[in-house]
Amino acid sequence: MLEVSDLHKSFGKTQIINGINLGVPEKERHAVIGPNGAGKTTFFHLLTGNYKPDRGKILFNHKNITGLPPHKINRLGLSRSFQITNVFPGLSVLENIRQVVLSRHRVRFNFYSNVNRMTRINRESMEILEDIGLQDERDELAGELSYGQQRALEIGLTLASEPKMILLDEPTAGMSMDETRDAVRLIDRLTRDKTLIIIEHDMEVVFSLADKITVIYYGEVLVSGLPEEIRGHKKVKEAYLGDH
Ligand SMILES: Nc1ncnc2c1ncn2[C@@H]1O[C@H](COP(=O)(O)OP(=O)(O)OP(=O)(O)O)[C@@H](O)[C@H]1O
Ligand SMILES: [Mg+2]
Repeated sequence: MLEVSDLHKSFGKTQIINGINLGVPEKERHAVIGPNGAGKTTFFHLLTGNYKPDRGKILFNHKNITGLPPHKINRLGLSRSFQITNVFPGLSVLENIRQVVLSRHRVRFNFYSNVNRMTRINRESMEILEDIGLQDERDELAGELSYGQQRALEIGLTLASEPKMILLDEPTAGMSMDETRDAVRLIDRLTRDKTLIIIEHDMEVVFSLADKITVIYYGEVLVSGLPEEIRGHKKVKEAYLGDH
């Protein structure tokens, strides 16, 4: 589904991404870990077209997407949720989901059409709300939800576009332990049989979700392997001990 080779990116003179190679097959849930500032978020920005790589190639679903603008990459089915919350606070929970479902159906919003009549779109939107456990909050303003609920909504927004591959950047950042547990359960349930890359600091989350783990360190892949290979790996321990 994703094949990244020799990816490079620098900002000014600082080399941030330094030759990343990574392959993610269909239906794999892949975790990317690494110390703060290692380049994980920058790597996502390169995948989604928010930054253009200086060198290297990104194949997504066998298509070369290197250097394509974000909306084109998104339309090809690569969808991300951002490290910062990305919901429309002034819209209701249902409206938030519905605008993504609408755009997936290529229905252009126009002020003369009655959105509420679009039974199918409403039904699909409600199904997503049920999936993320926010069906009772459908008419609440997204901005008034709890932090954990907003993150759940954000995951719903990502799923609403029915992406081929999902990128999640620290979906449990800033959550309480209870919220984290709920969010992980939700992500686990919603991403089974889906292709996922998740950036995550919480090792419990990583080991409970990931089929495979890649450690990024100073913009390079330090090691990539099965969870049991990563756990207790000498280089990984050194990278983290060196950082803290
Ligand atoms: N637009 C930019 N211009 C200049 N430097 C940048 C830019 N974006 C990121 N950097 C630098 O690149 C490095 C990697 O940042 P990045 O956000 O990718 O790290 P990260 O692995 O996601 O860290 P964290 O775990 O803290 O989220 C950092 O040193 C950061 O300051
Ligand atoms: Mg980051």
